[in-house]
Amino acid sequence: MGVQKEPKQAIKNAPGTWGIFYGLFWYTNLMKLIFPKGFYWGASTSAHQVEGNNHNSWSEWEKKNAERLASEAKDGTDVWKKWESRDMNRFPEMFEKDNYISGDASDHYNKFKEDFDIAKTLSHNTHRFSIEWSRIEPEEGKFDEKEIGHYLDVLHALRERGIEPFVTLWHWPLPVWLEEKGGWENKNIYKYFEKYAKKIADTLGDKITFWITLNEPEVFSTLSYLKGVWPPQKKSYFLYRRVIRNLVKAHKSAYIVIKEKTPQAQVCVAKHNVYFEAYENRVVNRLLKLVSDWWWNDWFLKQIKGFQDVITLNHYHHNRINYGFHKNENEKVSDLGWELYPESLGKMASELRKYKLPIYVTEHGLADADDSRREWFILESLKYLHEAISNGADVRGYLHWSLFDNFEWDKGFWPRFGLVEVDYKTKERTIRSSAQVYKKICESNMLEL
Ligand code: BGC
Repeated sequence: MGVQKEPKQAIKNAPGTWGIFYGLFWYTNLMKLIFPKGFYWGASTSAHQVEGNNHNSWSEWEKKNAERLASEAKDGTDVWKKWESRDMNRFPEMFEKDNYISGDASDHYNKFKEDFDIAKTLSHNTHRFSIEWSRIEPEEGKFDEKEIGHYLDVLHALRERGIEPFVTLWHWPLPVWLEEKGGWENKNIYKYFEKYAKKIADTLGDKITFWITLNEPEVFSTLSYLKGVWPPQKKSYFLYRRVIRNLVKAHKSAYIVIKEKTPQAQVCVAKHNVYFEAYENRVVNRLLKLVSDWWWNDWFLKQIKGFQDVITLNHYHHNRINYGFHKNENEKVSDLGWELYPESLGKMASELRKYKLPIYVTEHGLADADDSRREWFILESLKYLHEAISNGADVRGYLHWSLFDNFEWDKGFWPRFGLVEVDYKTKERTIRSSAQVYKKICESNMLEL
């Protein structure tokens, strides 16, 4: 008996035993990054990129420009140069005219229930989509009740699956009649946008909490009116300023009508912010960072101050500024040649703390056709996002771009941003393995290192 007692006693008294258990418990928990309770996990899409068969300002532009874009890809002219050194031959579709025509896209318009079943299987509890203005108001002042009914079905389908919708009202294309009236250059566009927003608030408002009036106004105005590469392809500082003014006005008017109808609504614009970093912390670079932050990241948000309830962040880019040039190290890049720099998501969230509003990441992702970098990129980026949350950033959701492959604007179909792959011929969906890794995070609300 004495012999039996001795080892038990020894274990009980051993100072190290509980210490080891405690240490292990502490260590395993340290390896778990738990996100705030009720965190939203999901993915985003936009109407023109996924629905198929839209007739709007973009679809018209595609018809006129597809040939040119395909031949620019062949010639390796300016826009395409950066891909030349990379394995462009992996994506021969970029040389084909059809790549640049959205056509029936991923046919999400007809397959939305199937797609939301996939989102549910992947344990998403939120989803961002956009309403296509040109479907709702195909002719000036004539609202199409059948199409409104379609989006009502979309909202029901999400809610039935326990998925919270984030709804964007304008993700870039305009109805053709409005583009013909000058689109965003028209000083009255805010009135048209207000009417459209009111119609949606009146008919679908009770099904929506999170509203994004405009998607990335700064990206649209820069690419369409300063750089002149997107429709309507103008290059004028004067027009750019006018368009920004009209976008600000449109957001504010929509904000007011939405809040009148549904005061509990959480309304904002999806803001595309870039993480500017001063190379080697040099004074000149720090000054340039200040200017860049002001112009690209803060200017629009400051103009709509008081007219937003949350911040929705779309984030893709890091720019290490060196005397006005990028000094990115580009060790890892996406298929589009964009640097993959996971730290920047956390930095961005931290920089947004100054607005003292809840933050939702509503886009973040990469073009990665063979799914070789997506898992790493998601895990690493979320690690830094968690760090920002621990340091006080009030981040309440993360929506990956994108739920499935889609039409990437002037680049067409070849860049593959989806957690789910789409075979554009058969429209078959295949879940990528990175999506399964993301699923584990979504269902456990934590990241295990
Ligand atoms: C846009 C998306 C686009 C994504 C990837 C975002 O700026 O909102 O429509 O697909 O970037 O380029």
